[in-house]
Amino acid sequence: MSGMISEPESYFRQFIPERDNFLKELEAEAKDQDIPIIGPLVAKLLYVLARATNAVSILELGTATGYSGIYLARAAAENGGRLVTVEWSSEMAERARKNFQKAGVLDVVDIMIGDAQAIIETLEGPFDFVFLDIDKEFYVRILPCLYDVMKKRGLLVADNVGFKDADAFNHAIAGSRQWKCVNLFAFLPGHSPEKDGLCIALAQD
Ligand SMILES: C[S@@+](CC[C@H](N)C(=O)[O-])C[C@H]1O[C@@H](n2cnc3c(N)ncnc32)[C@H](O)[C@@H]1O
Repeated sequence: MSGMISEPESYFRQFIPERDNFLKELEAEAKDQDIPIIGPLVAKLLYVLARATNAVSILELGTATGYSGIYLARAAAENGGRLVTVEWSSEMAERARKNFQKAGVLDVVDIMIGDAQAIIETLEGPFDFVFLDIDKEFYVRILPCLYDVMKKRGLLVADNVGFKDADAFNHAIAGSRQWKCVNLFAFLPGHSPEKDGLCIALAQD
């Protein structure tokens, strides 16, 4: 009888996606400075989802140093589109701008500085793809605005839904007729933290 792979965490760690030295430098810097980034596995997942859905207009809430944004911007560029990314720390936004430039994607990125809730109310969209990665306590309040700026049948990915602060969001999106969502609680090597949840949701017509 075939069984499961033993020690799956060390086993699956060998499949962490390859990435270039610059992205590895950003990972090392994030580790040193305690900046919670999504790491190479979830970053590649975002890239794959954005490419598969042919997302032309991508919105990211929570830029930090631009690590996830580089993957999203590459997907947007390959789809012939752009990334809008929002960060309330002007110091982080400036670091992200330099990193987008070094990664060769700055020409397809618009960085907006300010509170995500205030900024989203000024955006028209519609966005094909949204990545939500701000402080988790704000997720539930921003959810209705996210629906308003999303293209119907667009895809939302929300990170860190395993955090207690995401509880209200998890209930709200699961109980909403505006979304069809799945929660994946998984081992995500290289992600901060490595055991966490992702919410993947379709904006309903
Ligand atoms: C988890 S980090 C983002 C990591 C990034 N997405 C990555 O994986 O490379 C969250 C970032 O969102 C910013 N942030 C938190 N709450 C925010 C808000 N309400 N509006 C705008 N930015 C916010 C923080 O300053 C921080 O840089």
